[in-house]
Amino acid sequence: QWTTSSIVDETVAAIREQIGGKRAICALSGGVDSAVAGALVQRAIGEQLTCVFVDHGLLRGGERAQVERDFVAATGVKLVTIDAVDRFLSALEGVTDPEEKRKIIGREFIRVFEQAARDLQAEAGAEGDQIDFLVQGTLYPDVVESGGGSGAANIKSHHNVGGLPEDLQFGLVEPLRALFKDEVRRVGLELGLPETIVHRQPFPGPGLGIRVIGEVTADRLSTLRAADAIAREELTAAGMDRDIWQCPVVLLADVRSVGVQGDGRTYGHPVVLRPVSSEDAMTADWTRLPYEVLERISTRITNEVSDVNRVTLDVTSKPPGTIEWE
Ligand code: XMP
Repeated sequence: QWTTSSIVDETVAAIREQIGGKRAICALSGGVDSAVAGALVQRAIGEQLTCVFVDHGLLRGGERAQVERDFVAATGVKLVTIDAVDRFLSALEGVTDPEEKRKIIGREFIRVFEQAARDLQAEAGAEGDQIDFLVQGTLYPDVVESGGGSGAANIKSHHNVGGLPEDLQFGLVEPLRALFKDEVRRVGLELGLPETIVHRQPFPGPGLGIRVIGEVTADRLSTLRAADAIAREELTAAGMDRDIWQCPVVLLADVRSVGVQGDGRTYGHPVVLRPVSSEDAMTADWTRLPYEVLERISTRITNEVSDVNRVTLDVTSKPPGTIEWE
């Protein structure tokens, strides 16, 4: 019988085997996957693990606090937070191509981690304290969709798999490589992670960077962050968190449309709501959200987010549409 606790036991044993007495660094993205991967490795090697959380400025509202407070409280992990907002934004300047964005964000991530590892090594000083392993929360569907699985086409270079540079200086530890999302969530609960982390919506490694369609800038990100926070708040208030797989909010930053608000003409940007239902993100159906919920989200976003004057709904399943727009 393949139970969750046997998955945990076997994975923990395999991680111990792979890492031995060496040290590892874990890339926390703020998402479920890296949190569960980090918690598993923490269980396996304890103090030999340091988690690094990069604030790349592409996060949703409140995510940094959730990692720094809730994740640390649940696991007791050693955590270093790095503020790299400016670095990511300059690397993304002028870039509009989705694959290029993914590659840049993936590359910068690894470079920041390498620097963090060098800093930790310098602190540790002594021989034998070198950090040799990088933990990543790559899931089975990521492996397949990045062309790493059997017979798969390369649909998108997922941050966790395709975006790694060739001069990578760590061995990779990917304890979730054989698992689907629902299994990852069960493993997370088994490890004692809080519901707020385990049941949060999946969020892509490249973050809001691939939800701003067009060039990514600080202003556009803060517009999208505000709209996204409203959508999440209203979905939670309507008790719909468990009914949807995720609901990306996408900012069409290069599109403008005419609107009217109060007595004045507006010329703002549309956002797209992309609520989807899915088992494993390999296929998905658009979620039939109640009209009242859609109405509240739309009214609040257009009232409260100054650059957005139109809210649209994506009613495409996957295939043919992917879940994210980029
Ligand atoms: P798509 O857009 O390919 O997304 O239908 C499938 C699922 O994967 C998430 N996603 C990512 N997750 N790194 C990740 O860790 C990525 O680069 C990435 N791109 C997409 C997406 O949110 C959805 O849940």
